[in-house]
Amino acid sequence: MPVSINAIDPISRSAFAAEVTGIDLREPVSAADVAAIEAGMARYAVLVFRDQPVDDEQQATFSRHFGPLEEATGDLRPAAERRIAMTLNDISNLDQDGRVMARDDRRRLFGLGNMLWHSDSSFKAAPARYSLLSARVIPGSGGNTEFADMRAAYDTLDDETRAVVADLVCEHSQIHSRGALGFTEFTEEELRQCAPVKQRLVRRHPVSGRKSLFLSAHIGAIDGMPVPEARMLIRDLTEHATQRDFVYAHVWRQHDLVMWDNRATMHRARRYDPSQVRDMRRTTVSDEVSTLEQVA
Ligand code: OGA
Ligand code: MN
Repeated sequence: MPVSINAIDPISRSAFAAEVTGIDLREPVSAADVAAIEAGMARYAVLVFRDQPVDDEQQATFSRHFGPLEEATGDLRPAAERRIAMTLNDISNLDQDGRVMARDDRRRLFGLGNMLWHSDSSFKAAPARYSLLSARVIPGSGGNTEFADMRAAYDTLDDETRAVVADLVCEHSQIHSRGALGFTEFTEEELRQCAPVKQRLVRRHPVSGRKSLFLSAHIGAIDGMPVPEARMLIRDLTEHATQRDFVYAHVWRQHDLVMWDNRATMHRARRYDPSQVRDMRRTTVSDEVSTLEQVA
């Protein structure tokens, strides 16, 4: 049976989130199914796969159909301290022994940066294309993930703002997003890894042709603009881009896998009881080139 992709958005909103059925991600996937999922990602930007109890290897194998995977360097866990392989980002609140991290554990506090609206790896020269997040264990309540449609955000800008943002280039760094939460203690090594990276603010999707705002909590500066003015513009745009009409809130069930296009969305985690286990694992498909090299 071929995959079937059906919108889960209210009819008042243009295509953004959809559910994919008729596929078992633990099994080999046909070229036709991969093509259908890619087309679905370009039309929508968030795809939900329910009841997919994949293991790490199966998640990585499925993800590789869409491009090369990033090394998981965004979660402050060196190789020696990891529960899982470097092909997966550990989005859990668990330490290497599988215990819930202490409230003041710096890896947990760094991870709280995921609660700010962002696009994955926008701080890397080649940012993320797709992210695939698998829910292995979820808390009793809270911990939703929200997605904002950055194509809708661009489409609804007024002409004046559209002209202002057209050719802007922003600097992205995890130092900035973490700094916004008061997380400022970085090692020399981390500071070196977090050197700012430039990205275009307006990008065009190579498949759908749609333009979107490439916003992220990692933005700390805009080329040629005084910093306070730049940060205020980014705040304004973020407020516009995350208005409720543009947001899909995913309420997790165990064994959901959600795949999103970082070229067309921002996302954020919501709060949950930090004493409860939340074990989520993310594979990330690299976009391979910087937005500076993409046609605007
Ligand atoms: C991520 C992320 C949000 C969440 O995995 O990239 O931001 O809800 N996760 O855990
Ligand atoms: Mn993320």
